[in-house]
Amino acid sequence: MEAILKTSISTITEKAIALVQQMTLDEKIGQMTQVEKNSLTPEDVRTYFIGSVLSGGGGNPTPNTINDWREMVEAFKASARQTRLGIPLIYGVDAVHGHNNVYGATIFPHNIGLGAAGDPELVKQIGRATAVEVAATGVRWNFAPAVSVPQDIRWGRTYEGYSEQTDLVNLMGAAYVEGLQGDLSAPTGVLASVKHYVGDGGTAWNSVSTYDWISMDLWNNLGNFPKWTLDQGQTIGDDAILRKRHLPPYRSAIEAGALNIMASYSSFEGEKCHASRYLLSEVLKEELQFEGFVVSDWMALDQLDRDFAQAVATSINAGMDMIMVPFDFKRFIDTTRQLVADGHIPISRIDDAVKRILIAKLALDLWNESADKPAFFDEVGSNSHRQLAREAVQKSQVLLKNNGVLPLSPGTSSILCAGQGLDDIGYQCGGWTIEWQGKTGPITLGTTILDGIKNHAQGMVERFDMDSSGSNFDVGLVAVAEIPYAEGEGDTDNLNLNEDQIKLIQEVRARVDKLVLLIISGRPLIITEVIDDCDAVVACWLPGSEGDAVADNLFGVTPYSGKLSYTWPAAMTDIANPQGAALFPVGHGLSG
Ligand code: BGC
Ligand code: BGC
Repeated sequence: MEAILKTSISTITEKAIALVQQMTLDEKIGQMTQVEKNSLTPEDVRTYFIGSVLSGGGGNPTPNTINDWREMVEAFKASARQTRLGIPLIYGVDAVHGHNNVYGATIFPHNIGLGAAGDPELVKQIGRATAVEVAATGVRWNFAPAVSVPQDIRWGRTYEGYSEQTDLVNLMGAAYVEGLQGDLSAPTGVLASVKHYVGDGGTAWNSVSTYDWISMDLWNNLGNFPKWTLDQGQTIGDDAILRKRHLPPYRSAIEAGALNIMASYSSFEGEKCHASRYLLSEVLKEELQFEGFVVSDWMALDQLDRDFAQAVATSINAGMDMIMVPFDFKRFIDTTRQLVADGHIPISRIDDAVKRILIAKLALDLWNESADKPAFFDEVGSNSHRQLAREAVQKSQVLLKNNGVLPLSPGTSSILCAGQGLDDIGYQCGGWTIEWQGKTGPITLGTTILDGIKNHAQGMVERFDMDSSGSNFDVGLVAVAEIPYAEGEGDTDNLNLNEDQIKLIQEVRARVDKLVLLIISGRPLIITEVIDDCDAVVACWLPGSEGDAVADNLFGVTPYSGKLSYTWPAAMTDIANPQGAALFPVGHGLSG
C-alpha cells in the first residue's frame, strides 16, 4: 500500500511542480487561501484564484438540505473551473462524526465512544460511510480525524479524542484515514485532515492566552473566549513527552496515506505550533517525510502577533501551506503579496506550499470530477449507514457496574424512564451537530434511546413525571446528560452531576426495585455520590442519531463489549493527577 502510494506521489509531484511553474504570484497566493463560505462569493473565487472554501461548524445553507449543500459547494467549484488555469477548488467541512452539519445525515458516535468500541475495522467502515455522505454533497475534504491524546477530561474536546492512550489513538486514527480516503482519486475519495498538530490534548489548566487585538465576537461569535481554560493552551512536557505521547498518531496517519494535517492552536515549549519551524518543517516535513500540506486552524494566524504581516510571515516561513483565514481574505492576500515583494517570504517557500496543495488536489483527481449528482447521492442517511452507526453504538457502550439487573428481560412488567437524555436527539449527538456547539431538541433525523426501549419492552413503559408517577416499578432507567458543547466552551472544572440530576436519581430510586443509570456524555462524569444507589451504570457516550441502539444492549439483543479508553475518576481532584484515584481504570467494562 505504502509503496504504491509512494510511486503515484512521485508522478503527481512532477505534475504539481510543472503546474507551479505556470502560475503567477497571485494565482499561487490564491491557492494558499481558504475562506469561510459566508465571507466570499463564487465570483470572488474566480477573481482572487481562491484555492479552498470551508463551512465551519454550523456553516449550513438555508434550507439545510442535501441538495442545497451540493448546490452551494458546486457554485464555488464552478467558479474555480473558469480561472485561467482552471485549478479546482477544494471544499472542506468538519464531518467529525458523520457529515454532522447536514440535516438527515447519519451521525455516528463521537470518537470517545469509538475508542471504547476499540475496533479499527469498524472505524475504517465509519470513515468510508462518512466519505460517501460527504462526497455526495460535493465536498472532498474532511477536517477529521482528531488524533488528540487528551490527558485532562476537563477539556471540552475530550470526546473528539479516541483515548487518553497513544497506542489506541494510533490504531483508530490510521484506520479512519484509510477508510475516509479509500481510493482518493475515486469520486468518493475524501481527503483527511489529521488534527491538531501537535499536543492539543496535553495542555495545562489555565494556560490559555487572550489577545486584545482580536475581536472575539468575530472569532467565534460567542464572545466567551476568556473563560476557556484548557483549549488552545500550553502543552505540558518536553520534547521527549511530545514525541512519546502526542506525535506517534501523525506518523501512523502519514503511513496510512494522510496528505493533510491541521496545525494546533496550542503552544509547545512557549511557542505557538502555528509559528514553529521546528514542528512544522523539521519534525513533520523532514523527519516524518510528510509530503502533503499543512493547513492552519480558524483565524489562528491572527493570534501570533498584533502585527498581521508579522504573523503571516512567521507562520508561512515556519512551514504553513494553506491559511484558514477565514474571514478577511483580501487582507491576507494583500499582506502575503507584499511580504513576498519585500523579500520577507522567499518565493521558494510559496512554491513549496503550492506544490504540496496541488499534490493533494491531484491525488484526489479533482480535475476530472463530475459536476453532476453522483449515483451515491441517496446514500446520505441511508439505511445501511444507519445500520453501521447502530453497530457502533452497540459496541461503544461500556457497562461500568451491574448487580445482575442487565440485560433486562423483555418481559419486565414495568419500567419507569427518566431524564432528558432519554428522548432528545440533540443531547445524544453532542457538539458539532447541525450547529458548531450542537443543540438540544429534535435537531436532525434519528431515533432516541426511549424509542429503543419501547421497541424492546413488552411490559409497561412510563415516562417519569414528578406529579403523577406511581411507585413499585420493576426497573427505573435514568439518563443523565451533558448539555452539548464544542471546543473551549466545554472546558470546565465541574464534572459533578448537578443537583437536579441527583434529585431525579433519588426520586426514581424511591419508586423502583432496580435502578439503571445511563450516562450520555462526552467524557466521564463524577458519579461517586450516586453509584451505590444504582444497580447498573452504563456509559453511553454521545451515540449520535441512532440512539435506539443503546436499548439493544439494555435488553441483551447485543452484548456489552465496550472498554473504557479513558480513566474514570472518583473525584474532580483525581483528574490530571498522577496520584489520583480511579473509580474505574482504562480497560474496565463488564460483559453481559
Ligand atoms: C465556527 C467554527 C469554528 C469556531 C472557531 C465558529 O463560529 O462555526 O467552525 O471552529 O467559530 O473556534
Ligand atoms: C477547530 C477545528 C476546525 C475548524 C473549522 C476550529 O475552531 O479547532 O477543529 O476544523 O475550526 O471549523
